[in-house]
Amino acid sequence: MTTVPFLDVAATARWVARRGPEAVIGRLIDALAADFARWPELDKRPRVATHSRDGVIELMPASDDVTYGFKFVNGHPRNPARGFQTVTAFGVLADVHTGYPTFLAEMTLLTALRTAATSGLAARLLARPDSRTLALIGTGSQSEFQALGMRAALGITHLRAWDTDPAARAKLVRHARELGFEVHEATSAADAVTGADVVTTCTADKTNATVLTHEMVTTLAHPGAHVNAIGGDCPGKTELDPRILAGADVFVEYEPQTRIEGELQQMPADFPVTELWEVVAGRKPGRRGVGRTPRGAGTPFERGVGERAALDATTVTVFDSVGFAVEDWAMLRFVLDDVPPELLQHLDLIAEPADPKDLFSLVRDAGAVGGRGHPGPAGAGRQNAVAGERRALDRLMGLSGRGHGTLAGTARRG
Ligand SMILES: NC(=O)c1ccc[n+]([C@@H]2O[C@H](COP(=O)([O-])OP(=O)(O)OC[C@H]3O[C@@H](n4cnc5c(N)ncnc54)[C@H](O)[C@@H]3O)[C@@H](O)[C@H]2O)c1
Repeated sequence: MTTVPFLDVAATARWVARRGPEAVIGRLIDALAADFARWPELDKRPRVATHSRDGVIELMPASDDVTYGFKFVNGHPRNPARGFQTVTAFGVLADVHTGYPTFLAEMTLLTALRTAATSGLAARLLARPDSRTLALIGTGSQSEFQALGMRAALGITHLRAWDTDPAARAKLVRHARELGFEVHEATSAADAVTGADVVTTCTADKTNATVLTHEMVTTLAHPGAHVNAIGGDCPGKTELDPRILAGADVFVEYEPQTRIEGELQQMPADFPVTELWEVVAGRKPGRRGVGRTPRGAGTPFERGVGERAALDATTVTVFDSVGFAVEDWAMLRFVLDDVPPELLQHLDLIAEPADPKDLFSLVRDAGAVGGRGHPGPAGAGRQNAVAGERRALDRLMGLSGRGHGTLAGTARRG
């Protein structure tokens, strides 16, 4: 029987706690850089979004010629008021050669990690390397991860945090101090942005909001600030004054998706942007100019940075992030490689009869001998049928007595 490794929420949390969240995000930045560097080889498309009055549910596929992956994710900004998360997710990897699923994982925590790592990757390429102060606008679920991502990428030491919800603000301040940041609990977005080197907007509101104005960026933030905008990620859901984009160098994950979902939806269709992978691969300049290290030298990430290029300390850079499937695909492969086997469960997810053309045998073996929906008269036949049903139920619940814990990270035949 082929079983599929499964990482649940509690095991994901244990894995992150064991490795250390900042260390995970730091290593993930490098893993993302390696995947972004081979961007042209990857199968990519804008995500499939189903919108409703309260939010959106999205499917996000990506693949190379070995491993396919997709994420299911929702975005429901009014959920916290009802006691639910704004964003929840799960994801799947599959073997391209057989089409069989090879890994299933919760992705609510993994999304926060991969979003922080993507923000970190962009900041490494686009923020001033001497950046030490981060303004966080929106201190909900993503915020601690975002702070750690910026520390992993840039060595951020100071946070200036603002949220319209005082309880969310207090929560971030408490956690961030425990994590060793110097924290200023701001009294407004403008107060948060004052003196910041990097501004992360991670608010949730299903509207064209202006949580960051052009004046805040040009007069209150440190010159040459980097804006990491992650909360505007749906049609009709934006955070930035469009004049910020007009006056900045703007970078995106995947242009066809960001034109529909990102801050970019506020700009003319021909507004120029650079895809982040082009900077990672050294094809286009980030803040430091095009990489000048010889092609083939160093990691793709080092090639992208370009060690000898001049630093531009005054341009405002914007990473208009919406979240792209390649990041989730990279996250799933990374966690599957790294997670200790004992944290995985193994699911009986694939209906797999001994004879691949005899799928019906699974139903017959589970007791459907009568052929008309009921197994027949009480007595021995009935008892066999009940035992068969119990075995089938055990299989569904993963209780059929097979051993666990070997060959972690791959679907197993047993
Ligand atoms: N780009 C990506 O890859 C990516 C990934 C994950 C989440 N997101 C988006 O990031 C945003 C934050 O996600 P989350 O899970 O932290 O949501 P959350 O609901 O947990 O937190 C959002 C916070 O924003 C605050 N807020 C709303 N409007 C505000 C305003 N005008 N000024 C200041 N604060 C305001 C809310 O009070 C809340 O505390 C969401 O919009 C989500 O869709 C993007």
